[in-house]
Amino acid sequence: MEIACSILHNFSLVLFFALPVLVAAQTANISLGSSLVASEDSSPWHSPSKEFAFGFRRIGDQNLFLLAIWFDAIPDRTIVWYANDGKTAPEGSKLELGVDGQFTLTTPQGKEIWKPDNMVDKASYAAMLDTGNFILADNDSNHIWESFRDPTDTILPTQIMERGGLLSSRRTENNYEKGRFQLRLLPDGNLVLNPIALPTDNAYGAYYNSDTNDIANDTNSGFRLVFNESGYLYVVRRNGNNKNLTSGSISSPQDFYYRATLDVDGIFTQYAHPKSPANGSSWVQSWTPVWFEPKDICSGIKGDLGGGVCGFNSYCILQSNGRPTCQCLPGFSLFDQDDKFSGCKQDNLQTCDPYAPNPEELYETKFLSNLVWRTSANYEELGPSNEVDCRDSCISDCNCVVAVTYAGKCWKKKLPLSSGMVDISTYGKVFIKIPKANLTSRELPSPESINQRDQATAILVISIILGISVFLNLLFMAASSIAFIFSYHKRQKHAGVSSILETNLRSFTFENLKNATDGFREELGRGAFGIVYKGILSSPSSTTLIAVKKLNNPIQDGEKEFVAEASAIAKTHHKNLVRLLGFCEEGQHRLLVYEFMSNGTLASFLFGISKPDWNKRVQIAFGIARGLAYLHEECGTQIIHCDIKPQNILLDDSFTARISDFGLAKLLMNEQTRTLTAVRGTKGYVAPEWFRNMPITAKVDVYSFGVMLLEIIFCRKSLDVEKENEEEVILVDWVYDCYRCRRLDKLVENDEEAKIDMRSVERFVMVAIWCIQEDPSLRPSMKMVTQMIEGVVQVSMPPCPCPFSSFC
Ligand SMILES: *[C@@H]1O[C@H](CO)[C@@H](O)[C@H](O)[C@H]1NC(C)=O
Ligand SMILES: *[C@@H]1O[C@H](CO)[C@@H](O)[C@H](O)[C@H]1NC(C)=O
Ligand SMILES: *[C@@H]1O[C@H](CO)[C@@H](O)[C@H](O)[C@H]1NC(C)=O
Ligand SMILES: *[C@@H]1O[C@H](CO)[C@@H](O)[C@H](O)[C@H]1NC(C)=O
Ligand SMILES: *[C@@H]1O[C@H](CO)[C@@H](O)[C@H](O)[C@H]1NC(C)=O
Ligand SMILES: *[C@@H]1O[C@H](CO)[C@@H](O)[C@H](O)[C@H]1NC(C)=O
Ligand SMILES: *[C@@H]1O[C@H](CO)[C@@H](O)[C@H](O)[C@H]1NC(C)=O
Repeated sequence: MEIACSILHNFSLVLFFALPVLVAAQTANISLGSSLVASEDSSPWHSPSKEFAFGFRRIGDQNLFLLAIWFDAIPDRTIVWYANDGKTAPEGSKLELGVDGQFTLTTPQGKEIWKPDNMVDKASYAAMLDTGNFILADNDSNHIWESFRDPTDTILPTQIMERGGLLSSRRTENNYEKGRFQLRLLPDGNLVLNPIALPTDNAYGAYYNSDTNDIANDTNSGFRLVFNESGYLYVVRRNGNNKNLTSGSISSPQDFYYRATLDVDGIFTQYAHPKSPANGSSWVQSWTPVWFEPKDICSGIKGDLGGGVCGFNSYCILQSNGRPTCQCLPGFSLFDQDDKFSGCKQDNLQTCDPYAPNPEELYETKFLSNLVWRTSANYEELGPSNEVDCRDSCISDCNCVVAVTYAGKCWKKKLPLSSGMVDISTYGKVFIKIPKANLTSRELPSPESINQRDQATAILVISIILGISVFLNLLFMAASSIAFIFSYHKRQKHAGVSSILETNLRSFTFENLKNATDGFREELGRGAFGIVYKGILSSPSSTTLIAVKKLNNPIQDGEKEFVAEASAIAKTHHKNLVRLLGFCEEGQHRLLVYEFMSNGTLASFLFGISKPDWNKRVQIAFGIARGLAYLHEECGTQIIHCDIKPQNILLDDSFTARISDFGLAKLLMNEQTRTLTAVRGTKGYVAPEWFRNMPITAKVDVYSFGVMLLEIIFCRKSLDVEKENEEEVILVDWVYDCYRCRRLDKLVENDEEAKIDMRSVERFVMVAIWCIQEDPSLRPSMKMVTQMIEGVVQVSMPPCPCPFSSFC
């Protein structure tokens, strides 16, 4: 079985050492009398390596320019520093390093608009350094000013921030003026993130702090924030016990650019970007977050002042990727359409007649659940009160716009409301009173708000009967809290349905789908769950291709469960997942409608006649890993796929990998998943714990991914009985043998493209071996896998995946 080990030549080693380390250490001095003019075709001052540039960048559609520093060797040309607090200058403005040693930015009319703060002396030259630092120096080469000492929203490796230092977020992606968030290293040594009261710098309470201060003993406090040249960010304490912000190990800055930016949404994020495209020609890579804080900004911002993350009258939704998104309350719209963090204003200021005979006719109430405010802003507390009382009381109260009812009480809230957020674990109902004229079709009542009247009536009736005595009333309250708890658990179970994050899931009739598929004529594929047919949806304006999956297992749990799970699937939004468009449940029929994927399955792509190109395969592997990481860790409820294999990965028009069939294990089989899947699971992809008495976790997908990753890299099936050499039949065994004997070259003999990218080949192999470890706890999470295969974190040497084999 064992292959001959001759460690003759190791490609990867050669490649490791061949990396260019040399960057000529010459600094291109910018001499006195030099200048730059703001215009479309002015060329900036480059650093010697050409990786950074200093000059004017056109912003937006008008002829406005920002004096900035940016990464110049990647397509993004990401800006890392800007002058003049992010204010733009008109075309023709001039930046001059005068013969008098002054450095000034002037308008075409000659009016000075910016010069460096705190420049201690006259400059005798300037230079854009390879670190991204722009410096002004005197005759003795002392730096009299550095962009690194005057950071904006970003810091770079080798940059240090002392106590008192500050980063300020920009307003929006394209507006570099001061935004609502700050990062500061306080004089007491704590690193904090806080919102501010624009246009001043007045700081509100922190929503993140590094805990690096010790009031009693300053020796234990932090004193500088260091982004070291290896790309690690940490707070240095005087006692040497540093507080790491970057955790784990990251790849060498020889291969990656790093930056840490206080983003527009208030999150401080360290990003990595490969320095060269994966195969030397096309740039598909972008900035990937390595680390960020805080993890939940929506609930992190507290305090009575300020508008929270989203601004006033808006509420914050923490997305699966840890980023906040903001939504105006119904009847409100953004102050600034381009700035979703700007807060919201009422569409129609309510004119109010306290004696109006039928206030009901003037207003509509929109009902929301799972919405809470971190600040109280209550002006009235009614109790005991039920939903109907609460709503009626708000409608006839001129001051009331929003009311919350919960546990027999009713709170009316005053505007503006701040720090609203979605929190699935809260119960209680929120009413928003909106003048009727302003109920647009966009805000058509959700199914819940339609039912709400009936529900409310029912509760009213019950409470009248029970309300005869106080004692009975108490009983009612006890009962309703039990009901609350009950509905809470139920809601937790179907975390999707009651959430206010709406899906656009469409409900089809069986007849609709029969017509769309021309009587289920063209079969696209068959799986354990049912048969998939091609279909066309036509409307007067467009036609859309769809894939209709007819589920063949009888449903035990009834329609409610089906709709709930379908909408849970529909709530997943990721570019590497096949999107569910709608469903049909009618009598015995259960169908799911997906978008159509024009390039078929990964299986036919990989194992077809011609070998698909290396770069595409690598991108596909990245995509699948990201999609799975999303299903496991980033979407509201964890989804374990249970049947990852190339037949379940589809390719869209642009050959982006899209995972299909996820969420179905739960939808169809619940408790029986284990047995059915074990029977169904294709040999070769199934993790060992399926056959043992071990809990099934997301790590089963990691295992299957590992096997599939090898298939993608080497473009062959995991089991190929036609191989002449016996040791090549089972791919994972063969790969591990080759890896162990340092003969990965044997695996890529017929693959010229892979041969020139042996470093990546080795990395993928190592990751795959980690994924197929026998012990599930040794397998990395999919998030980790993503970072490892993209090269953002280093991969350590994997142990043998095969404890029962003879030579391990
Ligand atoms: C840049 O200018 C300074 C001061 O004149 C000089 O000391 C230094 O050698 C110059 N560097 C280069 C590369 O010309
Ligand atoms: C720098 O030094 C040169 C010669 O030593 C002198 O002529 C020049 O004035 C100095 N420049 C500044 C800005 O001090
Ligand atoms: C401060 O803490 C350090 C150790 O962390 C200790 O050696 C030192 O004595 C302390 N100083 C005071 C004044 O407590
Ligand atoms: C940067 O910091 C990391 C973590 O503290 C450390 O392992 C590494 O050696 C440092 N690099 C340099 C060049 O100081
Ligand atoms: C910080 O990171 C370095 C290098 O990774 C490690 O040696 C050190 O123990 C870490 N410090 C803490 C407090 O975790
Ligand atoms: C890199 O990818 C591009 C686009 O997919 C392809 O055209 C090119 O041949 C690839 N080059 C190498 C060296 O693999
Ligand atoms: C709300 O109603 C007022 C008065 O009818 C109207 O002027 C305004 O445009 C409406 N706003 C929206 C968003 O429909």
